[in-house]
Amino acid sequence: MKEIKIRRSVRSFEDKLLSDKELEKLVRAGMQAPSARNQQPLYYIAINKKEVLKEISEKVPGYKMVGEAGGLIIIFIRNEEHPAPKQTEQDASAATQNILLEATHLGIGSCWLSTFHNEAKQEAISNYFKLPEKHLPAVGIALGYPKDKDALKFIDRYNKDWVKYI
Ligand SMILES: Cc1cc2nc3c(=O)[nH]c(=O)nc-3n(C[C@H](O)[C@H](O)[C@H](O)COP(=O)(O)O)c2cc1C
Repeated sequence: MKEIKIRRSVRSFEDKLLSDKELEKLVRAGMQAPSARNQQPLYYIAINKKEVLKEISEKVPGYKMVGEAGGLIIIFIRNEEHPAPKQTEQDASAATQNILLEATHLGIGSCWLSTFHNEAKQEAISNYFKLPEKHLPAVGIALGYPKDKDALKFIDRYNKDWVKYI
């Protein structure tokens, strides 16, 4: 699939916000992901407001690039009991990869921002959104139109030493 080959982490973006429609397409892609026992444990905050992106970039450690991004999706693990609680992190990762590939398909650059297992990031995000449900921040995805027109390009990572075909 072309999108798998050319997806790259993009950290520098044009000054153009994603549309509401684009954000919804990306969230829909996330929600189509598989999840353990089909538990669908995730909650999404999808942002395309400049002032919010700017504030988050200043408040959340490691999220600096969000200041010039055209959008941000934060995936949370809902604060509820889930049938397979040990696998919610993997569920969030599957959803994240779906979003990265859908973004690539739309010509939108994206960057996975690790958040799970980082208390400082999680606390900053929770403090900013003050969600009454206290969902747990798991992954951030910076989004935007790449400044570098060649940003989405194939880098071949196939390594025959790391696979055994039987
Ligand atoms: C679990 C995970 C966490 C990551 N966290 C960050 C991050 O916090 N900041 C960042 O700039 N890139 C982050 N990345 C992106 C990686 O640095 C990137 O995927 C890697 O360097 C390979 O480059 P590519 O995405 O262009 O193929 C993360 C990627 C993964 C899978």
